[in-house]
Amino acid sequence: MFKSIRLRMTITYLLLIALAMLITGLLLFNMLEKYYLLSAEENLKRTGSLTAELVLNYLREDADAVFLSSIAENFSRQINARVIFVSPQQTVLGDSLRVGGLLGVKMDRAEIAAALGGKIGQSIQYSNLSQQWVLQVALPVEEGGISRGAVFLSTSLNPVYETLAAVRRLFLGATLGTMLVAGALIVLFARRLTEPILKLTTAAQQVAAGRLDQHIPVQTDDEIGRLARQFNIMATKVKETNNRLTRFVADVSHELRTPLSSIHICLQTLQDYELEPEEQKEFLENINYETQRLIYLVEDLLAITKRQEVAEKRETFSLAGLLEEVANATFPRAGRRGLQFLMEIPPNLPGVHLSREDLKRVLFNLLDNALQYTPAGGRVKLAAVNSGKEVCITVQDTGCGIPEEALPHLFERFYRVDQARSRHLGGTGLGLAICKEIINHYGGEIGVRGNREEKGSTFYFTLPATLFVAMSPAGRTGLPGAENFVPEEEPH
Ligand SMILES: Nc1ncnc2c1ncn2[C@@H]1O[C@H](COP(=O)(O)OP(=O)(O)OP(=O)(O)O)[C@@H](O)[C@H]1O
Ligand SMILES: [Mg+2]
Repeated sequence: MFKSIRLRMTITYLLLIALAMLITGLLLFNMLEKYYLLSAEENLKRTGSLTAELVLNYLREDADAVFLSSIAENFSRQINARVIFVSPQQTVLGDSLRVGGLLGVKMDRAEIAAALGGKIGQSIQYSNLSQQWVLQVALPVEEGGISRGAVFLSTSLNPVYETLAAVRRLFLGATLGTMLVAGALIVLFARRLTEPILKLTTAAQQVAAGRLDQHIPVQTDDEIGRLARQFNIMATKVKETNNRLTRFVADVSHELRTPLSSIHICLQTLQDYELEPEEQKEFLENINYETQRLIYLVEDLLAITKRQEVAEKRETFSLAGLLEEVANATFPRAGRRGLQFLMEIPPNLPGVHLSREDLKRVLFNLLDNALQYTPAGGRVKLAAVNSGKEVCITVQDTGCGIPEEALPHLFERFYRVDQARSRHLGGTGLGLAICKEIINHYGGEIGVRGNREEKGSTFYFTLPATLFVAMSPAGRTGLPGAENFVPEEEPH
């Protein structure tokens, strides 16, 4: 029940309005009733004391009843009340009703007893006779402290209660009218409020059902508007991620298919034909090579999927120390390939806070490429420059270089400049894409430029100052065999 916000809101607001009107009504009627009764009472008392003064000398047991009754009638007409004069013995001496009245009757009433005692007696009663509420007031008639009798006045409260009933009807009408108008406004308001929520729900259902092309128009700048805006951003991100994933799976499948079909063909040939041992060896070597490529590919793919985990393992370390460590491992490999390896690391490199494994992966990928795509006799150089705002690390080689048209695609997954050549070298085309992802993750930039005066290329990446941390110089690792590095005496 009440599962919709619109209904809940409408009912709550209407109940609130009804409650507010009820409390206001109760207070108002109470005040009005008191006010009317008080003024009726005052009216009676004022007239009563005037009358008392007037009849002061006539209230005796032998008083002229006709005379007193006519006075009583006169006042009665003025204030629309019954006026009765009573002697100290409580006998009625004059009555505004004259003949039909209580002349000569002993009026044994509490109000009159009070008046004869020098006080004002009053009461509100329901008269069974006239079937209405009446207000009764009795006032003393006295001279020099001696009681001469009392004036008794009684008036119907019907006009008071009728006025109150009329006000109540008016108030009820106003309340119902207000609730009707307010109800209509609340329904409109609730609809305006919930409409975008309903749209959001439908759009979210569509996204859940796989229809990712959802966009909700943002009409307001309030909380719901902001929610709609965030939803649109989220939907776009989901779509992008989904597209990326689809493209990635397609690329991976394509990359896996080539070595797999190669292995398949080799195996089938081995199975179907009687081959010479030499030929068999060649086919098996091919299978071995393609299997190795598959292993590399799967390893790179695993590295991509585990990247997030690795990136979260941040630690503080000396940048120079890490560069030296990487260079240390690269130096013998460069030697084996007949390459000269240089390193140019300034003393002012900062401590950094990021995943060590991430940074090593970038450096090894760039150095691997440099070693791989530079023919023997060439040179590879690892350098770093600290500008204060960032550290720029470069890997320069004198290799084959990169053609202009390949530059925009170089950091895309599975992109290789020379498919056949890179494949032959065992490359999967994932290395630079991984580097870019890592560097961008840390807010840095990665790129490549051609060498100015010679063949080859220079890959560079930056680490922004946000990653820097203060560190003692002791954080720098010692470099065994550092003397093996050719010092920085580059031609340019
Ligand atoms: N230093 C370089 N000199 C010349 N070409 C390069 C250099 N570095 C990269 N390339 C070109 O860019 C391509 C993409 O490099 P990337 O490192 O992404 O892939 P890969 O080296 O082929 O494979 P792997 O995923 O094993 O690293 C390479 O195939 C190569 O054609
Ligand atoms: Mg590579």
